[in-house]
Amino acid sequence: MAKLGVNVDHIATIRQARGIDEPDPVAAALLAELAGAQGITVHLREDRRHIQDRDVELLRKTVKTRLNLEMALTDEMVAFALKVLPDVVTLVPEGRHELTTEGGLDVSLLRSTLKEKIALLKQAGILVSLFIEPEIEQIKASHRVAADYIEIHTGTYCETTNPADQRAQLQRIEIAVSAARKLGLGVNAGHGLNYRNIGPVAALRGIEEFNIGHSIVARAALVGMERAVREMLALL
Ligand code: PXP
Repeated sequence: MAKLGVNVDHIATIRQARGIDEPDPVAAALLAELAGAQGITVHLREDRRHIQDRDVELLRKTVKTRLNLEMALTDEMVAFALKVLPDVVTLVPEGRHELTTEGGLDVSLLRSTLKEKIALLKQAGILVSLFIEPEIEQIKASHRVAADYIEIHTGTYCETTNPADQRAQLQRIEIAVSAARKLGLGVNAGHGLNYRNIGPVAALRGIEEFNIGHSIVARAALVGMERAVREMLALL
């Protein structure tokens, strides 16, 4: 069974809406772990719109499963990761005006910077994952820059409503998973996954972990974090 990494960014979004100290993503992470989540993910954005440095520092001390820090490929973020030492760093493209991460990294284009920064992170014992579209070229390039994992962007699959297009997107993901595994890369997946669209992707072989945020936090707001996490685990 694939593992579930719960992204608690949007607990922090609610907190930042008031500029006070609750709800706390650290408490949410604890509840998610108690409900069975096998990992906690946070995205420390350059504009600090939701998760703050303090959250990641505290999560490093409290998370008992696996802490995955999503971040942009910048000197500031790499220095922060080297100080906090999450278990995994997932490198993502970041745009100031996007509502959420919009596409995958262009690994070939960023090859030399990626190679250098991945080596630094790995020397510190951090596993490195690259958030990419399910495309063979991106997978080969991820292997060439010595990433440990790729995280497949499931956004296009999640956005398609037509069943034939959805099947085609699913097949694209399946081919990408198998190509990455053949190269020895670990495979995670995420973005846009919810209680209705997770089934077919969860049935694919070879995906180690799903990182899911918005849909779990949205359900948690109505039924509680533990129930929201348990219901997603049951679907996986
Ligand atoms: N994986 C990555 C790399 C992401 O950037 C995000 C969004 O922060 C997610 C997974 C989770 O996406 P969602 O909130 O749509 O579940």
